[in-house]
Amino acid sequence: MRLSTATLLSLNSLVQLQCSARWLGIPTVPFTQSPGGGTFALKHINSIIVDEQYQNSVNNLGETLIPPTLLEFSETFSADLLSTLNLKAPVVTGKSVGSQSIFITLGDSRAFVDAAGRPTAEAYEIQVTKNGISIIGASPLGAWWGTRSILQQGVLSKNQALSLGTAVDAPGWGIRGAFLDCGRHYYPPEFLMEMCSYLSYFKQNTFHIHLSDNLNVNVNLSSERKDELYSAFRLNTGDPRLDGLNKRLNESYTRVEFEEIQQSCASRGVTIIPEIEAPGHALVITQWKPELALEPTGDWSLLNISHPETIPTMKNIWDVAIPWFHSKTVHLGADEYSSDAISEYNLYVNTMHSYIGERYSKNVRIWGTFPPNSIPDEDNINTNVSIQHWEFYEGNPYQQYIKGGYNVLNSDDAMYMVSKWSGSYPQKLNLTRIFHGAPDGGQYAPYIFDTKNSSNNPLRDNPNILGHLPALWNDFGPNASTVHEAYFSYREGLPALGDKQWGGDLLMSEYYNIFETLHAAIPAQNLDLAIPSRSSTILSYDFTHANRGHVSDTSGNRYDGIISGKPSISSDGLKLENGVAVHTPLISKGRNYSLSFNIKPLSDTPGPLFSAPTTFLLSGNDSLPNVTFVTGGNAYVLNYTLPVNVWNAVKVIGLNNATYFSVTGEGKKEEVHEFTATIGTDSNAYVWNNPMGIEVPLQTIGGGGFEGYLRNVELKDGADEKYMAFYEPLVIGHL
Ligand SMILES: *[C@@H]1O[C@H](CO)[C@@H](O)[C@H](O)[C@H]1NC(C)=O
Ligand SMILES: *[C@@H]1O[C@H](CO)[C@@H](O)[C@H](O)[C@H]1NC(C)=O
Ligand SMILES: *[C@@H]1O[C@H](CO)[C@@H](O)[C@H](O)[C@H]1NC(C)=O
Ligand SMILES: *[C@@H]1O[C@H](CO)[C@@H](O)[C@H](O)[C@H]1NC(C)=O
Ligand SMILES: *[C@@H]1O[C@H](CO)[C@@H](O)[C@H](O)[C@H]1NC(C)=O
Ligand SMILES: *[C@@H]1O[C@H](CO)[C@@H](O)[C@H](O)[C@H]1NC(C)=O
Ligand SMILES: *[C@@H]1O[C@H](CO)[C@@H](O)[C@H](O)[C@H]1NC(C)=O
Ligand SMILES: *[C@@H]1O[C@H](CO)[C@@H](O)[C@H](O)[C@H]1NC(C)=O
Ligand SMILES: *[C@@H]1O[C@H](CO)[C@@H](O)[C@H](O)[C@H]1NC(C)=O
Ligand SMILES: *[C@@H]1O[C@H](CO)[C@@H](O)[C@H](O)[C@H]1NC(C)=O
Ligand SMILES: *[C@@H]1O[C@H](CO)[C@@H](O)[C@H](O)[C@H]1NC(C)=O
Ligand SMILES: *[C@@H]1O[C@H](CO)[C@@H](O)[C@H](O)[C@H]1NC(C)=O
Repeated sequence: MRLSTATLLSLNSLVQLQCSARWLGIPTVPFTQSPGGGTFALKHINSIIVDEQYQNSVNNLGETLIPPTLLEFSETFSADLLSTLNLKAPVVTGKSVGSQSIFITLGDSRAFVDAAGRPTAEAYEIQVTKNGISIIGASPLGAWWGTRSILQQGVLSKNQALSLGTAVDAPGWGIRGAFLDCGRHYYPPEFLMEMCSYLSYFKQNTFHIHLSDNLNVNVNLSSERKDELYSAFRLNTGDPRLDGLNKRLNESYTRVEFEEIQQSCASRGVTIIPEIEAPGHALVITQWKPELALEPTGDWSLLNISHPETIPTMKNIWDVAIPWFHSKTVHLGADEYSSDAISEYNLYVNTMHSYIGERYSKNVRIWGTFPPNSIPDEDNINTNVSIQHWEFYEGNPYQQYIKGGYNVLNSDDAMYMVSKWSGSYPQKLNLTRIFHGAPDGGQYAPYIFDTKNSSNNPLRDNPNILGHLPALWNDFGPNASTVHEAYFSYREGLPALGDKQWGGDLLMSEYYNIFETLHAAIPAQNLDLAIPSRSSTILSYDFTHANRGHVSDTSGNRYDGIISGKPSISSDGLKLENGVAVHTPLISKGRNYSLSFNIKPLSDTPGPLFSAPTTFLLSGNDSLPNVTFVTGGNAYVLNYTLPVNVWNAVKVIGLNNATYFSVTGEGKKEEVHEFTATIGTDSNAYVWNNPMGIEVPLQTIGGGGFEGYLRNVELKDGADEKYMAFYEPLVIGHL
């Protein structure tokens, strides 16, 4: 069906008049109930019919260069209906609406408008009738967002019964999503893909990833120390032109991996926007080519743009990287540079903009750094370069950039976070600010750059506002946080922000009522690292009755293990020693959890107790006998060593953002230790006792040098709140 603009405008004004006429979801969906009432139950659906005339259509108007077809999006929707609502609805193609089906087609994309009144391809209409449902997308991407509404309503409605009526929905802004600093912390491909699944469920279409960066450089460090300071370039290109640039090949993306990330995200309507940072935050480049440093005896992370090799080096890097990227826009970074070299900076940005534009037909974006006319009579940044605003002291996004003719993406630091600790920013999104962050106490939105002074905010319908992305930075480098802690920074707030980025009008109380229910049904991710279980006991291995080669899980979940090697099993339990390992069908479990076991070390030979591919709980290593958690290559060492030749009742506890190790020796009182991180850089504060929220590794038990008896291994969901009392207070200072 095609809607006329007039029908739509009248529907829109109707929706505005009756603000209760909406589907509660994240985001909310304007919905008008049929006058006669009635419902249609999703459980009656037996197929998805994709309009055959549009099955191969794609949306070319978005940021991605690899848009899925309407048929491909519909196949993914079908899989989601099965996995989240247990509905079997195979995809067929056809000409029209069928009974008991979901018909997916395209309508007139000009009929749907964004906040600035322009047509948007991301809009859709849903008609719920007594025979079935039609989704009419302004494009395949619009139809995809419509499928998210159906999934959400299926989860939230009683007996999956949807009211009869019509939803007409369009996003206010074109860029909605999140930013992650992958330069100062490595995130494996699977994690990034699961984050895209998370974003997509809330109709967010952008995941901006920062692919190069470094710890702040203290000017007083010796050149040797500057040379070894943490920096990373996350593409493992193998290209001889970049030989020596990437020193962390195992913590980088190969082309195959990067392709998989982009394809997987695109299949759910999310575009990866890649950023390679220069001419500031470029220590990885000056460590590679020290002659390019602007301040050879100072902050080594700035490039000397006047050096004849700097721009050719950056063109080389982009020449190698650009063919990997499937977005229409790439990000040059261009953040925090020397204010003594503004004209050089402008020259750099403009040169890269024309080079990338002419040679690769891509747009470029930079972080707002030096606003136009920072130097009178100088050439400003080309107005076709889009500006990602983050801080008013780097330029006023409305008064200077938008009024100066630039398009601006809102990443104001009202929604900034720094992993683990910061003197300026929180570790989680601030829900109060999301629901009440407008200067007048109203809801936050992409046009709100300034949460206090409305003179700095354009009108909602200003066409130069591209959208909004919050940002999570890793200022303290890789050892300050685990991979999944980044997700926990975003877990609760990002969906709420998704409502505001779209232009929804969800209230905070409504959000808390539906969030966990919707969260439990987000397809294609398990970011909580949850394990399905019949009861709160997830796994239970007694080990005193195990058959050789096999241990039964008595939890009722049948997570039986296989024991390799030549195990000795007795009433003391399983004897772990070199070559003996238990392989479980599980990998790891996220917060909250309690893993308890009885253990009697027979020697001080250290080794792994519990392991998963990137996380290990060790009794010690070859040079240190202390109990240690290793995750993502970083070690968190306890001030504790397991005593030999005595039984210890141990509990490893994941509670909120902390991880504890409780031990009760024979005839002794319980003692509790916390795994914490010391963070700090020579340019920044040092902070001791930072909590680490580490998932418990479960894939392998033993398997290394550790010698001792183990019995009564039990994993429970949840943790005793009494352990909160052992939370170590932070200590902040300087070395
Ligand atoms: C570098 O050393 C000088 C002289 O000791 C000192 O004044 C300055 O604060 C130091 N800078 C930093 C960033 O530590
Ligand atoms: C930058 O490089 C140019 C050309 O090599 C050189 O003349 C200039 O001194 C350098 N600037 C700084 C601040 O080192
Ligand atoms: C911006 O891009 C448009 C479209 O390519 C072009 O017509 C226009 O001249 C460009 N503006 C500037 C300032 O380069
Ligand atoms: C961890 O949780 C504690 C207690 O809830 C809280 O005070 C602290 O800010 C949290 N820290 C981080 C890094 O999230
Ligand atoms: C959250 O945001 C509100 C509104 O801007 C502010 O008053 C409050 O201090 C913030 N909370 C934290 C923990 O930063
Ligand atoms: C509010 O913003 C306007 C425009 O930038 C500025 O002129 C004014 O001084 C600001 N008011 C306050 C109280 O900061
Ligand atoms: C043992 O762990 C400590 C602390 O993480 C580390 O400094 C040391 O290099 C490790 N030793 C070996 C042999 O792995
Ligand atoms: C990459 O290799 C380094 C050096 O061997 C190691 O410390 C780190 O843990 C590895 N990283 C990952 C993610 O495996
Ligand atoms: C380790 O614990 C002991 C007491 O059990 C304490 O005296 C010592 O200072 C601790 N060491 C560290 C590095 O925290
Ligand atoms: C290792 O644990 C012992 C106590 O068993 C403690 O004295 C020592 O300080 C710990 N070492 C480290 C590096 O934490
Ligand atoms: C962990 O336990 C605390 C305390 O009982 C609770 O507030 C929190 O919601 C729990 N977290 C999860 C993920 O269940
Ligand atoms: C993390 O790295 C910092 C340097 O950035 C170092 O001081 C600290 O000891 C490290 N912490 C751990 C737990 O490895």
